Amino acid sequence: MRAIVYRGPKEVALEEVPDATIEAPTDAVVRITTTNICGSDLHMYEGRTAVEAGTVLGHENMGIVEEVGPGVERIRVGDRVAVPFNVACGSCRSCLTGWTSFCERTNPNEGMQGAAYGYANMGPYRGGQAERLRVPYADFNLLRLPEGDEHELDFAMLSDIFPTGWHGVAMSGLAPGDRVTIMGAGPVGLMAAHSARIMGAREVFVVDRRPDRLALAERADAIPIDDSKGDPVEQILEATGGAGTERGVEAVGWQAHDPQGDEHPEATLDALVQAVQVHGGIGVVGVFVPEDPGAPDERAAEGRIGWDFGTFFTKGQQLGTGQAPVKRYDRQLRDLIVAGRATPSWIVSHEVGLDDAVDAYERFDRREDGWTKVLLHP
Ligand SMILES: NC(=O)c1ccc[n+]([C@@H]2O[C@H](COP(=O)([O-])OP(=O)(O)OC[C@H]3O[C@@H](n4cnc5c(N)ncnc54)[C@H](O)[C@@H]3O)[C@@H](O)[C@H]2O)c1
Ligand SMILES: [Zn+2]
Ligand SMILES: [Zn+2]
Repeated sequence: MRAIVYRGPKEVALEEVPDATIEAPTDAVVRITTTNICGSDLHMYEGRTAVEAGTVLGHENMGIVEEVGPGVERIRVGDRVAVPFNVACGSCRSCLTGWTSFCERTNPNEGMQGAAYGYANMGPYRGGQAERLRVPYADFNLLRLPEGDEHELDFAMLSDIFPTGWHGVAMSGLAPGDRVTIMGAGPVGLMAAHSARIMGAREVFVVDRRPDRLALAERADAIPIDDSKGDPVEQILEATGGAGTERGVEAVGWQAHDPQGDEHPEATLDALVQAVQVHGGIGVVGVFVPEDPGAPDERAAEGRIGWDFGTFFTKGQQLGTGQAPVKRYDRQLRDLIVAGRATPSWIVSHEVGLDDAVDAYERFDRREDGWTKVLLHP
């Protein structure tokens, strides 16, 4: 089958790889209809992770079940399914408490909990930017979708970014009527804005500096804050009569930079500590890493970043972190889509075939104007 393979920094290739097959009785093989390129893939693409050359990329997958192992009972051949990016067993301590992103069984790397398809340090699972994908523990992991091809682009957001944005807002502790500051207007930040609106936020502020993305934030009924035009914290305090927001979401990650392009991994956390009120909550879904081969200094290379913990403590704020447990939310979010209450596909900017995926990686990585979310249809 054909697949997108990581070859080295800034280099991916469309290659012929061995077919995805049933390897365990509880596996299924899914024929991919839609698979997305994610901002998380760009961390690997840019050489900022320990991903190995030869890895098939792609953790945002959906498609039609083509084959099931003899131990699969619930899922049937022909089912249309969304595949959560977490590979989870369904029966360990983490999975049983709703934390599939920290599954204790699926990641064989020493000391690592939580696995994913086609991702650095997340286990041996090949990604779905390919014609087919092997899904372990299929009965547990796969989310069934209505038959046909309706809502394809909305459902494509269920494997990662919609639940991840939702998780960021949920970890912030948002209650109806709260205001929220979201750092980053990438797909994850925009999905957090969409989620916050659905959850009843009174006002949503989204900080970025890219005009195309700030325009999308406005489309999500959020107030865009352009940090190239002035300090984002001051702008939010001014817009809230000096109060700040009850909640905050970090949707940028450790490669956060200033509008000129210099990296400051602490910048978004520091801004949130300032913009969020006393005893408010902050949900961090932007990725921070314990090892960064491309870090600007020695401490950052070990994942140590100096942020304003003193003010954070003094303000009595709460902080939630980590990969999103997609299964905790994907059923309800699917039903919101079917009911017409959520339409996450408004962020999709490009749809291409596998033949154009290498070019799409380059352009998405340059964050070319208008390249917000790229979907591949193998
Ligand atoms: N926790 C999870 O489960 C999970 C899942 C998916 C993605 N992620 C992570 O979420 C983060 C965002 O993903 P994405 O796909 O939206 O990425 P993206 O790179 O497309 O978007 C990030 C946005 O942040 C903006 N930005 C950079 N520095 C900033 C700063 N200092 N202040 C404000 N905005 C700034 C950029 O201009 C960009 O628009 C990434 O780190 C990704 O790896 C986490
Ligand atoms: Zn993703
Ligand atoms: Zn588990």
